[in-house]
Amino acid sequence: MEIVDRLRTLRLVPVVSLPSVEAGLRLSELLLGCRLNVIEITYRTECAGEAIEQICSRFPELIVIAGTVLSPEQVDQAVAAGVKGSVSPGFTPRLAAHCRQHDIGFFPGVCTPSEVQAAREEGLHHLKFFPASLSGGIKMIDLFKTLYPDVRFMPTGGISQENLDQYLDCANVLCCGGTWLSPEGMLAKGKWDEIEQRLKRAVDLLDRRD
Ligand code: 3PG
Repeated sequence: MEIVDRLRTLRLVPVVSLPSVEAGLRLSELLLGCRLNVIEITYRTECAGEAIEQICSRFPELIVIAGTVLSPEQVDQAVAAGVKGSVSPGFTPRLAAHCRQHDIGFFPGVCTPSEVQAAREEGLHHLKFFPASLSGGIKMIDLFKTLYPDVRFMPTGGISQENLDQYLDCANVLCCGGTWLSPEGMLAKGKWDEIEQRLKRAVDLLDRRD
């Protein structure tokens, strides 16, 4: 699937809870300026739906992923807006079945062997590992490698500039996600310089790895 290939190349997904649509538009420009052409917009704030619609239509070069997706209705709305993927904090067969009807990537959250196997049985081999740091972090990802060599993970939850390199070193990590690049509080206060610095530091790290 194309989205998986893109994430494998990009290696990092900024996860955002947007305080306003305007903040989302400004952040999208910054991301593109930093060559980080992907954003996961979580359905954790009221403006998420509208932000997803506007960002998809104004920035077609940005890969928009819907995050914290909990219901089929959210999937339908996000797909209609033009997202390329959806991410859920947990795994449910109902949501997996619904996403299968659409031509988008679905990355459900898992953190135990049973959850990995349940998702795998639904044909899903690219999973969000969440909450990564609270669920064993890199040690758990290494263990999953021996148990499920055909599964790749997107760890989120506790990823930061300090540990990003170590997570990306894991052969079974597809890409990492996190909110540290543009936390909601910083977006709300318009701390654009700080956000840009964080984005650049992360992109520098990715460039050094290439
Ligand atoms: C997510 O939804 O992916 C997580 O909340 C991200 O976790 P973080 O805030 O620790 O990056």
